[in-house]
Amino acid sequence: MGTPLNLTSNIFFFIFTLTIFFVAYTFPRLQPKQTNLVFYVHDHFTGELSTAATVAGKSGPASNILHFGTVAVVDDPVTVGPSDDSKLIGRAQGIYVNSQLDGKGLYMVFSVIFTNGKFKGSSLEIQGSDIFTMTEREFGVVSGTGYFRFVKGYGIMETVFMDIASLMATLKLNVTVKHY
Ligand SMILES: *[C@@H]1O[C@H](CO)[C@@H](O)[C@H](O)[C@H]1NC(C)=O
Repeated sequence: MGTPLNLTSNIFFFIFTLTIFFVAYTFPRLQPKQTNLVFYVHDHFTGELSTAATVAGKSGPASNILHFGTVAVVDDPVTVGPSDDSKLIGRAQGIYVNSQLDGKGLYMVFSVIFTNGKFKGSSLEIQGSDIFTMTEREFGVVSGTGYFRFVKGYGIMETVFMDIASLMATLKLNVTVKHY
C-alpha cells in the first residue's frame, strides 16, 4: 500500500497558501501609493512676463479678473520655488472664471503639464474653487496622465505674493494624490 494521503498537512498547506495570497493582494489595495508635491504658479495679468489674459466678461475682454463673470485663460510658469527665476518645471494651462458675486472667488480648471524634473512628461488635472482672500484654500485633483494616471487627490493653495494693483500673484500649490 502507498503512503496514505496526509490530509492534515494538505489542508495546512492550502490554508497557508490562501493566507499568503490574501495578504499579497489585499494590503497594496488597502494602502494605495501616495505622492506629495509642492510647486509654485506665477500668475501675471500685466507686465512683460504676462501669461494670463482676460478674454470675456461683463465689460468684454478687458473685464477685470477681480469682477464677477470674467473669464481668463492662463499659461502660467510652474516652478520649484517661489521666486520668478526659480527652476521652471512646467506650465499651468487652463481657465479661471470669476464665479463669486462679490468677485472674491474664482472657479479654476487647469492642467499642470510637467516639462522638466521628476514628473517630466506627466500632467495633473486641477479643478475647484479658489477663494483667494483665504490664506489657505483646498482644491480637487481629479486625474492625471503619465506618472499620475488614475490619481485622485487634493491640494492646498496659498498666496505667497500678491500685487492687486498690477494683478500679479505667486501661488504655492501643495498637492497630495493617491494612485489606485
Ligand atoms: C503639504 O500639505 C500636507 C497636508 O496635506 C502637510 O502635511 C505638509 O506639511 C504640506 N507641505 C508643505 C511643504 O507645505
